[in-house]
Amino acid sequence: MVTANRNRVVIVGTGQVGSTAAFGIVTHGLCNELVLIDHFADKALGEARDLDDGSEFQDRHVKVRVGDYSDCKDADIVVITVGRKPPANSNRMAELGFTVGLVGDVIDHVMASGFDGVIVMVSNPVDVMAWYAWKRSGLPRTQVLGTGTALDTSRLKTIIGEETGLDPRNVGGFVMGEHGNSQFAAWSTVSLGGKPFAKFLADNQSRFSSVSTAEVEEKTRRRGDEIVRTKGGTNFGIASTVAGIVQTILWDERRIVPVSTLLDGEYGEHDVFLGVPTELRANGANEIVELDLADDELAKLHRSAQIVREHCEGLL
Ligand code: 2OP
Repeated sequence: MVTANRNRVVIVGTGQVGSTAAFGIVTHGLCNELVLIDHFADKALGEARDLDDGSEFQDRHVKVRVGDYSDCKDADIVVITVGRKPPANSNRMAELGFTVGLVGDVIDHVMASGFDGVIVMVSNPVDVMAWYAWKRSGLPRTQVLGTGTALDTSRLKTIIGEETGLDPRNVGGFVMGEHGNSQFAAWSTVSLGGKPFAKFLADNQSRFSSVSTAEVEEKTRRRGDEIVRTKGGTNFGIASTVAGIVQTILWDERRIVPVSTLLDGEYGEHDVFLGVPTELRANGANEIVELDLADDELAKLHRSAQIVREHCEGLL
């Protein structure tokens, strides 16, 4: 259980994603103490010092330092970002063989410290890694979650904003399922200006005749790969997602975010982690929100579940 007076976040892995997530946490002053752990101690030290140097201009001073796994004992949240930059045009599932060994080692060290906070899994394939972390850690289901389709949902809103010229914050709704190729936009949940998105387009055909939901969905699904192709990896979008999830948990905000969480009967699925709307609280993934999905959307969720479950087989 997270208690406000502890307010310590640990980030394991200070590569591009981990260090950018650290920057988001520090810039917004989300916690009192941020501890960085990396296999390459000098890298963590350099990132900690570099992050600290901006303290004068940050919202509030976060004490940033290099640490070790013993620091997880009193941590509220441990963010796991170990992995490698994916090649372009690859399926995130292709990272499984490289990542699972690293994540298993991290989980063992974190749990050996006596950790009892919330694990936020970022390493890809994130749904499989979140399930693996839950199984290997033995923590309650609420205390292990992955970034899931929270980033994809933000991308959907951004792309709708790009296509319509409207502020993406006018968009409601979710991308759900696997944070990967089988993800889907749950269009029955997507609204713009309080109107169902399809009706918004239909009521404004002259203005938005070029906007296609199919193209928006495909652009969203391909966004991560498109960024990898152009800049060699992604870090800002996923880092903002991590910082947002950390804030919602630490500050007990009760935001509903499509993180990757354990389905234990919800949506008719069991023993699988998927991106579904979840109320985040100080205790982590507090409650799944079961939406009345359209039949085709539910079928896509089951397909995502099947793909993720297949890749979990044999990992333990
Ligand atoms: C992304 O889509 C890293 O999988 C993450 O940017």
